[in-house]
Amino acid sequence: MNKSEKKGSLVCVGTGITLGAHITPIAKSHIEQADIVFITGNTGFMQMWLQELNPNVHDLQQYYQEGKPRSRTYQQMMDEMLKAMRQGKKVVGAFYGHPGMFVTPTHKAIKQAKTEGYFAQMVAGISAEDCLISDCGVDPGRVGCANFEASQFINFQRQVDNSAYLILWQVGFVGDTTLTQFTTGEKYRAILVEVLQQHYPADHTITLYEAAATALEQPRIEQMPLVDFIHADVKQITTMIIPPSAKLKVNKSIQAKLAELEKQRSAPALKSI
Ligand SMILES: C[S@@+](CC[C@H](N)C(=O)[O-])C[C@H]1O[C@@H](n2cnc3c(N)ncnc32)[C@H](O)[C@@H]1O
Repeated sequence: MNKSEKKGSLVCVGTGITLGAHITPIAKSHIEQADIVFITGNTGFMQMWLQELNPNVHDLQQYYQEGKPRSRTYQQMMDEMLKAMRQGKKVVGAFYGHPGMFVTPTHKAIKQAKTEGYFAQMVAGISAEDCLISDCGVDPGRVGCANFEASQFINFQRQVDNSAYLILWQVGFVGDTTLTQFTTGEKYRAILVEVLQQHYPADHTITLYEAAATALEQPRIEQMPLVDFIHADVKQITTMIIPPSAKLKVNKSIQAKLAELEKQRSAPALKSI
C-alpha cells in the first residue's frame, strides 16, 4: 500500500451489480468516510442508496453523451476526481461492478494520483464476470477463459483458443471505432459473427448474459446459434459467452518431460558412499 504525507487521497471502489447486495464492507466504509463521492454507471436507485451512505455524492454520468468520444468523457471523469483530491479531499470514485474491470478512468486516475505522490488505491468489487461465473456455471479454471472487449476483438488480429471459453464485453456497441455510440446495429454484429466464424461453426451455441440488477429480477441467460446473434436483442449491459468448440490437445513432448521428472523424483535416492 502506498503511503503519502500529502493531504488528499483517491480510492476507487466497486458497488457490485445487484443493488445494495454486492457492496463489500470495506467499499461501504470508504464511501461513508469520504469527503466527496463521485459515482457513475449506477442506476437511480443505487444513487439514492449511495446518498444515504454519504450525502456528498456527485454523478459523473452526465459526461456521457451520444456522439461524444468516450475518451473525452473518461478524461473529464478523471479530472473531476483528481481536482478534488488535489484540494486535499478524501475522494472516493464508486463505479458499478468491479472498478477496474473494463473501466479506463479509475486505472488512469489512480496511476496519476500515485505519480503526484498522493495515496491512491483500488478496492475490488463484484463484477459482471463474477455473476456470470455463478449464474452460468462457468469455471474459468476448467479449460481456461479469455476476456476481450468486442470492438478491439474485431479491429485487431487476435489469437483465439477455441478450446477455452471466450467472453466478449460491450457487444452492444461492437465496431464503434469512433467511441461515440451507445449502440450499433445488425451490420456491425454481422462483422463480429464473420470474425467469430473463422474460429467457430455458424451453429455453435453462444450465450447472451445479463446479470440481475436487483435481487427481485432474474438474470438473462439466452442461448442461440452464433449466426442468430446478428438479429438478437442486445443491450449495453449484454455480455457474450462462447463455450469451447474444440477439445484440449495434449502437449506430448511436455508430458514426456514431466513423466521423466516424476520418474526421477520417485526413484529411490542412491546412498552416498
Ligand atoms: C464498461 S464495462 C463495465 C464492467 C463493470 N465494471 C463490471 O465490473 O462488471 C460494461 C460492460 O460490462 C458488461 N456488463 C455490465 N453490466 C452487466 C450485467 N448486468 N450483466 C452482464 N454484463 C454486464 C457488458 O459487457 C457491458 O457492455
